[in-house]
This record gives sequence, structure tokens and C-alpha cells, in this order.
Amino acid sequence: MTKQQSISHINWFHRIDLGEGVVTPGDDDSAAKLTKLNFPEDLSGKTFLDIGAWDGFFSFEAERRGASRVLATDSFVWDGNVPGKSKEGFLAARSLLKSNVEDLHIDPLNVSPQTVGMWDVVLLAGVLYHLKHPWLLIERAASVTRELLILETATDLNLMVRPAIAIYTRGELGGDPTNMCAPNLAALKGMLSDCGFRRVEVVYNSGLAKSMLSAGMRFLKYGSTPFASIQQGRCAIHAFR
Ligand SMILES: C[S@@+](CC[C@H](N)C(=O)[O-])C[C@H]1O[C@@H](n2cnc3c(N)ncnc32)[C@H](O)[C@@H]1O
Repeated sequence: MTKQQSISHINWFHRIDLGEGVVTPGDDDSAAKLTKLNFPEDLSGKTFLDIGAWDGFFSFEAERRGASRVLATDSFVWDGNVPGKSKEGFLAARSLLKSNVEDLHIDPLNVSPQTVGMWDVVLLAGVLYHLKHPWLLIERAASVTRELLILETATDLNLMVRPAIAIYTRGELGGDPTNMCAPNLAALKGMLSDCGFRRVEVVYNSGLAKSMLSAGMRFLKYGSTPFASIQQGRCAIHAFR
């Protein structure tokens, strides 16, 4: 069986280059996110924890960039809570890449030094806005971070100067009922500092112009009122110990 044949039945999220011209056909433009995340070029000798790994694109990329040990964790998607999606992509990609990335089924809120140990670099991308407890989640991720936490998330209420968190109860973020809340940048910085990070750097912020464009598109696609979605965006933050 060719690589192409062995992945064709899988419903992919990430686009992972498996070599020999085969790239998994996910909706997510995964490679483009590396720039937004300011993903470290060189992870030689570093240990890397991926919280919410899904198909594992960032875990495999960390391994490719020299990480000495990589742990991919997930629960929600791997446990079949998203119709048609599963852990199958991660397992297939790991096997075809002949990767040594380890895996662990664990809810992000159960991450702690006791359950997963300590990691030099921790990635928490695309997960925070799915949970009802963003501050607790940051606290959990911080508790296992030795050097650097890379946090990527949806943001909202960025016209407010004070720290604030938007709460979604009716799919107000992208029409997706699994999106529960999004903090503004001030809240994210405040929560990260509270969790003991000395330096907090925003490395990506989609900004107001992009938010206005997205608000128009969301209005056309989901009927979301632009007034509510105008401040919604994405950001990536590096938090250093
Ligand atoms: C948008 S994907 C992000 C995947 C990957 N980290 C990335 O950035 O490409 C969302 C991730 O959050 C996890 N997730 C979604 N809802 C969750 C929930 N209620 N509890 C725990 N994890 C959840 C999913 O399992 C999935 O891995």
C-alpha cells in the first residue's frame, strides 16, 4: 500500500508533509502557523510538550527541529468528541514518519508535574478558547513549563484596555458551539504574569483591520452580528520563566 493509499480514509485537520510528495489534506494551513507562532527554529536538546496535539503537526515539527523528547497530548478530539475526527491521523502520521513522538490521552486541565512531568518548551495552541476555565488552563500549562510557554488563542474585546474575557454561550465565536470564551490581550498578559512568567511577549496579533474583515465574512457565513465579532482575532504569545 502506498503512503497516499494508507492515509486517504482519514479525516485530517493538519497538513503534514509525509515525504515522497504526500501531504495530509487537512483544512488547517499548519505550516503557515509556524510563522505566526514564531516557532523556535532550533529545539536541539529541548524537551517539548504539545497540549492539544490533534494530528500532531507541531509535535512532529518539534522533533524535526531537534527536540530530544516530544510528548503529544490530547483528549477531546482523540476520544471521538468531534464527529468524523479521531486519533487515527496522529497514529498514521507517526508511523509513516517513523517518529519517536510519545503520546498521552489527558484532559488539558489535568496536566501537572505529577501527570506529565516538566518540559522545556510547552505549546498550547488553539485550545484555550474551547475551555470554560482559561486562567486555570494557563496555570496548568505554566506548572509544567521550565523555560518557554507558547500560547496561541482566539482573542476578543481588544478595544478594552482593562483585562476582560468574552464568554460565548451560543456559538458567537465562528458559529462553533465548542468555543467557550476568549480573553483580550491584557487579560492574557495578566494571567501569564500571575502564573510566574517574568517576560511575556506578544509575537502575533491579527489586529483590528483583520478582525473587521473577518467580522464581515462571519456575518455572511454564519449571520454573526459584526458588532459582536468585530473585536475577535487571534494572537500568539511567548511567555518566559
Ligand atoms: C483547533 S484544535 C488545535 C490543534 C493544534 N493544537 C493546533 O494548534 O493546530 C483544538 C484542540 O483543542 C482540543 N479541545 C477542544 N475542545 C476541548 C475541550 N472541551 N476539552 C479539552 N480539549 C479540547 C481538541 O482536542 C484539539 O486538539
